[in-house]
Amino acid sequence: MTMSEQPSDPVPDSARHAATTRDHVRRLRGIRERAIQGDELATERQHAKGKLTARERLEHLLDDGSFTEIDLFRRRATGPDAAGPFTDGVVTGAGTVHGRRVFAYAQDFRVFGGSLGEEHAAKIHKVMDLAIAAGAPLIALNDSGGARIQEGVTALAGYGGIFRRNVRASGVIPQISIILGPCAGGAAYSPALTDFTFMVRETSHMFITGPDVIKTVTGESVTHEELGGAQVHAATSGVATFVYDDEAACLDDVRYLISLLPSNNHDLSPVCETGDPPDRRCPRLADLVPANPKIPYDIREVITEIADHGEFLEVHEHWARNLVCALARLGGRTVGILANQPVVRAGVLDIDASQKGARFVQMCDAFSIPLVTLVDVPGFLPGVDQEHQGIIRHGARLLYAYCDATVPRVQVILRKAYGGAYIVMDSRSIGADLSFAWPINEIAVMGAEAAVGVIYRKELAAADDPDRLRSQLIADYTEELMHPYYAPERGLVDDVIDPADTRVVVIRALDLLSEKRPDLMPRKHGNPPA
Ligand code: HXC
Repeated sequence: MTMSEQPSDPVPDSARHAATTRDHVRRLRGIRERAIQGDELATERQHAKGKLTARERLEHLLDDGSFTEIDLFRRRATGPDAAGPFTDGVVTGAGTVHGRRVFAYAQDFRVFGGSLGEEHAAKIHKVMDLAIAAGAPLIALNDSGGARIQEGVTALAGYGGIFRRNVRASGVIPQISIILGPCAGGAAYSPALTDFTFMVRETSHMFITGPDVIKTVTGESVTHEELGGAQVHAATSGVATFVYDDEAACLDDVRYLISLLPSNNHDLSPVCETGDPPDRRCPRLADLVPANPKIPYDIREVITEIADHGEFLEVHEHWARNLVCALARLGGRTVGILANQPVVRAGVLDIDASQKGARFVQMCDAFSIPLVTLVDVPGFLPGVDQEHQGIIRHGARLLYAYCDATVPRVQVILRKAYGGAYIVMDSRSIGADLSFAWPINEIAVMGAEAAVGVIYRKELAAADDPDRLRSQLIADYTEELMHPYYAPERGLVDDVIDPADTRVVVIRALDLLSEKRPDLMPRKHGNPPA
């Protein structure tokens, strides 16, 4: 039996009334079962591509048996006596993840290639409205050929309704997009409006215009995977926040992410008894970070030392790797960590890092997640390309995001912190609540060599032995203006701490600030740099 036959089974009034209620219930069960099962051949085709079906995905994502489906019987009338398949190609409803309510929709590629028609869109709008009303995260599982071509412009309007709701829900409930098939054209803008985008290598593809159109317009030849595969969006465009080799690993991490987030902007993230003592010292940190600011080290090892059980979820792990952004738990509370990464371009701030950092700060602030900023930064990246691409605008976005953030904010300066980058990386002057520094800190307008070159240019040019004079001046400058107590003596740093105490100090600081109340001036909204 095809799906279009199931619903239409005409039951004459006489027969309907002759049947008992139990007969109707039995019939309901049969219809429901067939509607849920769908077309077996299409299921086989989906599996043959190495993909799960929409329902299998929801089963993996949600707690066992927790899914409540809505609009199973919704479908499109295709004529006076005919109707399309049940669900209209999208499964919608609610369930729980680690016992907490979430709403979800999963596009079913088996039905019209998961394409979005009028009823399909209306179902998505309904579940989005419910998620907003219930104050629960919305998870979108995308696997779709895009606007349903046979339905013309109504399909496009359906997307408009999704975008508008994405924006209304932004900063109110967490929105997570999982791309598990094609997501092309304007459809790609919904994931881009949400907080997190998950992709799977060789399975997910996102682009505004596909390879064929590109070939026609620009003459470039490119495969789907090269143009809009998961890896490209994870490492080059920054469109994908997380990337995986298979669907199961992807869905597992969505569950982990949900466990770190609050349900909405009025809630706090769940506090979790991690069993990692808040007073655990981290003596290895002193060996991990060399005192010489020119020697690199992996900042992720520092985060591993500090975080509860060394666990953290890195956001945009493969993009703008010179700035690490991660969600972790400290003393059981979720925190957002931003940290310069000295092993990638010396941890310098550039355009991509500024964009990545700004979005992360905004997300954490919207969802009341305290910010911990670990600073070891040589400055902003110099270069004509960076200037012409707008490092001023993009750096300003990071600055704007920090200045605007009202969550508890703790800065820890590990080593170097120079110039504008020091100020932007959540210095006290832009609103960090507490700032700590290790005794190897070098906080200055710029590194000593560069500073001496500027201030003593004439003296060095006239010197008999400029190298000797330069060394002497560098030593004097370092001793006078860059010593580790210069900023603390002026109240720009609240304490100089033993690196081994970093975890203890940050957890105590966050405790101190846990009741922080934002002090905001009324305004419609700000006008952040683009
Ligand atoms: C209606 C569609 C469809 C669509 C796929 N199907 N896309 N039906 N509207 N947009 C149907 C196919 O006809 C087919 O039906 C079934 O879904 C499976 O598709 P296949 O092509 O067999 O699958 P596959 O080989 O995996 O290719 C998937 C695909 C391809 C790459 C997505 O189907 C494709 O290129 N589709 C068209 C994509 C597109 O141009 N969409 C419109 C984009 S514009 P049968 O009956 O044969 O099983 C857009 C604008 C949004 O989306 C703007 C928002 C503002």
